[in-house]
Amino acid sequence: MARSEGSICKLCLVCSVIMNLFFGVNLYVGRRGLWGWKWCSDEVNVRGLSWSGRAAAEAKSAAAEECSGHGRAYLDGVVIDGMPACECNTCYGGPDCSLFLPSCSANADEGDPLFLEPFWKQHAESSAVVVAGWHRVSYSFSDQTTLSKELESLLRKLHSLLGNAITDGKYILFGAGSTQLLNAALYQEQTEFFDPADCSFQGDPAQWKNGTNTTGDIIDFVTAPNNPNGQLNEAVLHGPNVKTIHDRAYYWPHYTGIPSPADEDLTIFTISKLTGHAGSRFGRALIRNEELYQRMDMYLELNTMGVSRDTQLRALKLLKVITEEGGREIFEFGYKIMTKRWDRLRKTLSMSNRFSLQKVPPENCTFFQKVREPTPTYAWVKCEREGDRDCIEIPNAAKILGRGGSIFHDDSRYARLSLIRSNDDFDVLISHLESLVFFREDRAKIMRL
Ligand SMILES: Cc1ncc(COP(=O)(O)O)c(C=O)c1O
Repeated sequence: MARSEGSICKLCLVCSVIMNLFFGVNLYVGRRGLWGWKWCSDEVNVRGLSWSGRAAAEAKSAAAEECSGHGRAYLDGVVIDGMPACECNTCYGGPDCSLFLPSCSANADEGDPLFLEPFWKQHAESSAVVVAGWHRVSYSFSDQTTLSKELESLLRKLHSLLGNAITDGKYILFGAGSTQLLNAALYQEQTEFFDPADCSFQGDPAQWKNGTNTTGDIIDFVTAPNNPNGQLNEAVLHGPNVKTIHDRAYYWPHYTGIPSPADEDLTIFTISKLTGHAGSRFGRALIRNEELYQRMDMYLELNTMGVSRDTQLRALKLLKVITEEGGREIFEFGYKIMTKRWDRLRKTLSMSNRFSLQKVPPENCTFFQKVREPTPTYAWVKCEREGDRDCIEIPNAAKILGRGGSIFHDDSRYARLSLIRSNDDFDVLISHLESLVFFREDRAKIMRL
């Protein structure tokens, strides 16, 4: 009897330990446990998380919305039923972006660098930033400047890794995109040189080089690679009356070989076409001359008191991802996508003799250590038929949006098509171009017979 009572007691003890263990563990790590958070269609349970855990859970709830692979949801977007709603890519609609809109126009207009968005989805963990409510509320950093020294040194490291710019002996200024820096540079040059009221845009500088009228003061914008045609331009005007601003927005291995590092008096870069974060508005200028640096700095201080500290934090995080991986992964990713897109575009347009594409010579790339075909940001398409004088009208009629040559002070026989938008934008572009090239031309041939 005593023996069986003892056994029952032992059994009860074991059961009690097991039950306590079960409920104890469940209290902390169960589906609704204090350490866990549970995401349901209509509920985010973040009890027990720290403020940063809650912020991460909130960000994740928006990022987890897949929108059928044809859109994305943002925390600051429209909210429907308490949830961030999908924002669909061009030509897709419906609440979850699953609806393809076949009659819509392909967007090859703006140079919105959405082609890099999938890279950041692949690097969601390393690239995410949590911003505390009290993050840098002050106008200035503790050294009384408006610029993060950590970000500045990371930028110098990036350019040296890439070999696309020499930063030694240069001052660095940040701007709200390269657009603000171009304005700062222009402002300084104008006030130094001329009465701004007397300034006028004179188009392609080649005409000044070849012509006889090279008197007067000139600001030469050298865009290399060039927008729209992708050529690695060099300054053509020199002399005491010429000031040159080098715009290197596209001098990255996604788009071009890097034959040598830029080492100019004033060079402007942007994060927009490097990481794809055009919305963050972050650019930088490398400046050799101290006086020029100070005058541009004064413009930026008066204009916006520097670049948003939140943007600087984001840029720091993104550049860390790039540099920590030795700077290779994003460029291999970008180059691969651009190469595939150019192959598809060339193949499609080769079926017709109505259009031709720009020819950009192969370049030695010190970064990839090979001679490579350029993969420019934009297709600079020429309409070859005598009657197609306003070239952009032809793609426009085939539901393709782009930009006519005259916008770039060039011949209207040319049109620019952006190749750096989303995969969906590019697929729709190719599909509309195929219809333009195959079906419309076939119909025209049949009508001529
Ligand atoms: C040659 C060139 N420079 C600068 C910019 C603007 O860059 P950001 O987004 O930094 O203002 C663009 C934008 O497309 C560009 O094509």
